[in-house]
Amino acid sequence: MREELIDKIERLKRKKNAIILAHNYQRAEVQDIAEFIGDSLELARKAMATSASIIVFCGVDFMAETAAILNPDKTIIIPDEGAICPMAQQLPADDLLVAKRQNPDAEVVLYVNTLAKSKALADCICTSANAQKIVNAMDSQTILFGPDRNLAYHAQKATTKEIIPVPAHGLCPSHHQIVMDDLLKAKAAHPDAKVIVHPECIPEVQDSADYITSTSGMVKICKEEVGDADEFLIGTEIGLLHRLKKEAPGKRYYPISDTAVCPQMKMHTLENIESALEREKPKVVVPAEIAVKARKAIERMLAIP
Ligand code: 13P
Ligand code: SF4
Repeated sequence: MREELIDKIERLKRKKNAIILAHNYQRAEVQDIAEFIGDSLELARKAMATSASIIVFCGVDFMAETAAILNPDKTIIIPDEGAICPMAQQLPADDLLVAKRQNPDAEVVLYVNTLAKSKALADCICTSANAQKIVNAMDSQTILFGPDRNLAYHAQKATTKEIIPVPAHGLCPSHHQIVMDDLLKAKAAHPDAKVIVHPECIPEVQDSADYITSTSGMVKICKEEVGDADEFLIGTEIGLLHRLKKEAPGKRYYPISDTAVCPQMKMHTLENIESALEREKPKVVVPAEIAVKARKAIERMLAIP
């Protein structure tokens, strides 16, 4: 049954010149049928580079919107429209406008995990992979940064500029499942393991890690880490472990918290991917007046090496 479904998806991809892009948190079976798996930055770049006419985007809403903004001539489909990132919802455009009025000299750097309407008000976008570099590349000494206060903390550590989190308490509910108690227990159980965490984790967890990096940054470290390290404590959504085990085998990976699950990321399934490909919907469409402004902020990020 599952093999039949996979065969059908493969046939539809060939017939329609479609590819599947999947985020690192996708279900194992979705990662396994994707042409490309990556973090937010890699997926944005890949969406621009492909010659496919249809992109089936297996990630959350803001990622598919970013692909649509960068590719107005391609059809972007998202298998389940319910895949809405709760963090992105925490910074409505109206709230950002208020913050901008209160800080007229500040530039706005927004995490890619934002609504397209908010992106349209930003000077530059960043991802977890490049936030530190982007804030330092801005002209202003004061940066409004949102919506994740933990990524703001990570960015602040790399700059003398003033970073103002907006909203004050934006966060990812899945990464907030990873608490110090989990980390201390995991370290006690695996004292030789290297600790790698995502910058969406709380500051205390970040401060106790060997590495803080994006999801694909974690894959790179586990592949390249030399010396004795063959055990890793992973502080992010647990879907990443499938990719780690596949691409850097022979090592041991332990989630710091096995409750760090993003339910929205898990909404895409083989069934709804097949159905979306067959029907070529639901389509992701960003209104042109918003897309044009948001694109400028995304392209500014992509131009920074
Ligand atoms: P990455 O860009 O590191 O994959 O992170 C995206 C995300 O939503 C993490 O929660
Ligand atoms: Fe959003 Fe957190 Fe899910 Fe990432 S893990 S998509 S930030 S809710």
